[in-house]
Order: sequence, then structure tokens, then C-alpha cells
Amino acid sequence: MVEIHNLTKTYGRFRALNNLNLHIDRGDVFGFVGPNGAGKTTTMRIICGLLQADWGEVYIDGIDALNHNDQIKRKVGYVPDFFGVYDNFKVMEYMEFYGSMYDLDAKTVHSTSLGLLDLVNLSDKKDDYVDGLSRGMKQRLCVARALIHNPQLLVLDEPASGLDPRARFELKEVMKNLGAMGKTIIISSHILPELGEMCNVIGVMEKGNLIANGKVDEITRTSRHSNPLRIHIADKKETAIQILKQTPLVQKISIQDDSVIIAFDGDDAEMSQLLSTLIGAGVKVSSFHREEGNLETLFMEITGGAK
Ligand SMILES: Nc1ncnc2c1ncn2[C@@H]1O[C@H](COP(=O)(O)OP(=O)(O)O)[C@@H](O)[C@H]1O
Ligand SMILES: [Mg+2]
Repeated sequence: MVEIHNLTKTYGRFRALNNLNLHIDRGDVFGFVGPNGAGKTTTMRIICGLLQADWGEVYIDGIDALNHNDQIKRKVGYVPDFFGVYDNFKVMEYMEFYGSMYDLDAKTVHSTSLGLLDLVNLSDKKDDYVDGLSRGMKQRLCVARALIHNPQLLVLDEPASGLDPRARFELKEVMKNLGAMGKTIIISSHILPELGEMCNVIGVMEKGNLIANGKVDEITRTSRHSNPLRIHIADKKETAIQILKQTPLVQKISIQDDSVIIAFDGDDAEMSQLLSTLIGAGVKVSSFHREEGNLETLFMEITGGAK
């Protein structure tokens, strides 16, 4: 759905994007992660035809985005990172105002708007003033607005930033519905866990370069190897520690009350072997598991702690 080749953008002498290559499949919910200043907004604005690139190629659904701006604007919906001020606009008027920018008749805009407000859970606010809405509601309204012309690709720039947990949860629900509708979605954040549950693919940007890219489940699976193993011991802790010290796959041992936490470099079979050795030696093991795959730790590893 989105193909980017060698995309480069400079601001004066500063290179914000450095030969970026990226591929996003139709129906993907792509999480675009990276610290502030990484180049996410720049990339997204170029994809949406709102900013000129220096060189490179961008194809959206096969269309050359850098040279066919008008066609791209019909295919893409954009939710910017900043929500403007809309004095005296009511929610429904706001939707109809944006709808009037596309060649859609008033009736279609009206019925589409009602459907979209329902989708983002704002039906009961349709006669309220936009400026009186909470931040989370404004954000959802912005999503509804970006969908008015039924775009195939929706690009959201830091939609969860500044939202409270409740508003974030509601946004997440909206994203799930959009994913289920088969839309291709690009959603950025400088905080990875914000995206983990919403996306099936992530790309990590840093200083204008894509430094990691892949399916969320594959990335968490490979990182599981580096997650520590936590062993709860009801009795014979000393015996357990002796065995662990003699096991080559055990890299590091730390003790917390009744638990022993180890860095274990083995796969599932080797894990189960270790468990039988402990039990065989009479150690009373009450639980034995890998700590959960944590995207944030992974992100810190990839970006070297930059945030
Ligand atoms: N209009 C601009 N003029 C000069 N520098 C800019 C401009 N817009 C962005 N930049 C710089 O380009 C880099 C990437 O910015 P941006 O794409 O906004 O990153 P992100 O969205 O990941 O925070 C930053 O260092 C930023 O300061
Ligand atoms: Mg940005």
C-alpha cells in the first residue's frame, strides 16, 4: 500500500530524512516510533502530500505520491499532531465543512458524518461546540474528519500524546474498529508502549533513519530470549543457586526474597531441561517463567536509550 524508496528531506543544511526505505502492506496498522526529532512528522507529511521531498520515491496504492498530489489527497486521511481552534463551529458543522472540500453532495456528507461520529463515539456531541470538547474527544473528531472521503490510508501523527488513560483507551478502541474495517493505518508515537497493542507492524526511526522494522509479534518473540527467567522457590534455594551457577546457559543470577531471577540464554527445550534438573535435585519450584516480552525495553535497546 505504501512504498518508500530513498526518501530524503533536508531543512537548510539539516538532513531530517536520510534515504528512507519503507514498505507497508494493505491492511497493516503500522506503528511509527522514534524519539522527538527523529523525522516521523516529516515522513508523514510527505506521504500525505503536504510537504515536498528533496528526492526519493513514494508510491501509495501504486500512485506516484510526489507527483500526483491531488490523487493522493483523495486516498489519504491525515490527522495532524496539532488540533486547530474552531471558534463557533459545532461538531456536525465541522464535519460538513471538511466534507464540502471533497466533491461529495451534502446528503452524502451528512449521512457519512453521522456514521463516522458514531464510529468514534461522539454521536451525542454532534450539536456541541468543537472548542468545548475534551482533548480526547477533539482527537477522535479529528479521526472522523480525516475519514470523511473514505480514504484507504489513514495517517495519524502522535494521536495519543497528551491524552489521559481513559481517552487513550477510547482512541485505541477506535483504532481497533478502523483496523477491522481493513484500513491501512500509520500511527506515530515517541512512546512505544502506546502503540504496542494497536499495531501489527512497527518501524523505529532515529535521526532520519529507520533502525528497526518488523511485525510486532516477531520482534517480541526474538526479544523473549533476552527476557529474564523468574523462578519462585518454596524450599532448597541454596541447592537451586548452586545448580544455576553450574549451568552454562545461565548468564546472571540475582536473588529477590523467594525468587531467583536469571538471564538465561536458552530456548524453550533448554528451559524445560533446567526445570527438570532443579526438581530432580529436590528443589521445590513453585513457579518458573519468562518475564513478559516488553516492547519498551526492546525499544530502549534498539535506540540505545534515546527517548
Ligand atoms: N520546518 C522545519 N525547519 C527546520 N527544521 C525542521 C522543520 N521541521 C522539522 N525540522 C527538524 O527536522 C527534524 C525532524 O523533525 P520531525 O519530522 O518533526 O520529527 P518527529 O516528528 O519525529 O519529532 C527535527 O530535528 C526538526 O527540528
Ligand atoms: Mg512529530
